[in-house]
Amino acid sequence: MWLGTQSVNELGHLTIGGCDAVQLAEQFGTPLYVLDEAAFRERCRAYREAFQSRKPDTQIAYAGKALLNLAVCQIIAEEGLALDVASGGELYTALRAGYPPEQIHMHGVYKTEAELRQALDARIGTIVLDNFDEIARLQSLLAPHETVRVMIRVAPEVEASTHPLIRTGQRDSKFGFHLMNGDAERATAQVLTEPRFQLKGFHCHIGSQISELDAFAEATRAMVAFAETIRQRYGYAAPVLNLGGGLAVRYTPDDAPPSVGALAEVMVQTLRAECARYGYPEPALVVEPGRSLIAEAGITLYRVGAVKHVPHERRDIPQTYLIVDGGVSDNPRPQMYGACYTALNASRAHPHLPRQPYRILGKHCETDPIIEWAELPETRVGDVIAVLTTGAYAYSMSSNYNRYPRPAMVLVREGQARLIVQRETLEAVIQHDLPAR
Ligand code: LLP
Repeated sequence: MWLGTQSVNELGHLTIGGCDAVQLAEQFGTPLYVLDEAAFRERCRAYREAFQSRKPDTQIAYAGKALLNLAVCQIIAEEGLALDVASGGELYTALRAGYPPEQIHMHGVYKTEAELRQALDARIGTIVLDNFDEIARLQSLLAPHETVRVMIRVAPEVEASTHPLIRTGQRDSKFGFHLMNGDAERATAQVLTEPRFQLKGFHCHIGSQISELDAFAEATRAMVAFAETIRQRYGYAAPVLNLGGGLAVRYTPDDAPPSVGALAEVMVQTLRAECARYGYPEPALVVEPGRSLIAEAGITLYRVGAVKHVPHERRDIPQTYLIVDGGVSDNPRPQMYGACYTALNASRAHPHLPRQPYRILGKHCETDPIIEWAELPETRVGDVIAVLTTGAYAYSMSSNYNRYPRPAMVLVREGQARLIVQRETLEAVIQHDLPAR
């Protein structure tokens, strides 16, 4: 499963962005996150092309929670993408990167007063309102004649088939104003009567790592139906509809997510058909993918520190364990969601070598399998292992568990590697500690 610019060189090493992965591991140390700039940019362009060729007034907003740092902000700005931030920290990162604030919209189920203040002071594009308490909080922060552009997040009550922890638009979701209980309508009515709010439209996001396009169509139908109800009752037509992110990516060769073109086709056609049905003026569209823009552009390199033969009775895991120098602190997804990944032996990447099964585990003080069953050529201590598709929700969810410093990240392109996130130092790990006395 080669992704992006991945290939193998004459030494039999994995290459990415024209760089030898084994050399990267030597030069920058391991664990190491590697981001394939061409692959990332290619996905940004594929999204713009897929949507804007069908509907020119579509805005692609990158969901920064997938992975945000100064370099990523610069790239998305260059690619003409807008940005979705979900916290004061993400907003701060974007502003420090010089990312244009008017292109930013802010999400969050609990934006604190400080975060709302930060958004207002930076004059970001839009605040996406999530609940009644937040409406009141934002009103209390606005000066008498200060205005702010807002959208209303609606829980469309669509059950997307994905891991329950990353489903967000269903009946029991904590996110947004629900449709059935009338909250979405009440919130709209309230927002429309506040002269300091400029309502841009409605937003929904049904979840993440979703492969069934029907769920996106269903959400689109629910949103247009809701918008039509509001138009009939309040005479307000939404100029913008934001249908969220959530498209699945390839973690293993068994994954076959729909193409961006197929997603665009379903969303745009459903939106058009539903608007035509009600005679609703077609709103501009926003989509906000995170994972499907950046996940496949990222890999993590680890070094094998021990090979253990563990005789056991289980059939579902191999008896040879590879212990690598990372794990749950740089990628909690296998433990949190039972997420499956694909690994390559970057030191012996030739596709025709005979393979045997390995269980790849991290070095933390608990059982933290990274991959339960990996088929690799004979692997030895010192080999470099590459875990694919770690561009999204790995670094962004990393921790200092066991007081490990967070790994570095390099951006690779055409044979050049550039350090974009420094490896944390041990001193940085303790920098906020204070002595007891
Ligand atoms: N918009 C909103 C409002 C969201 O909450 C999210 C993701 C996105 C867009 C982007 O979704 P994407 O295109 O990346 O699927 N930590 C989990 C994923 C959590 C997703 C949270 N929201 C994981 O590692 O799978």
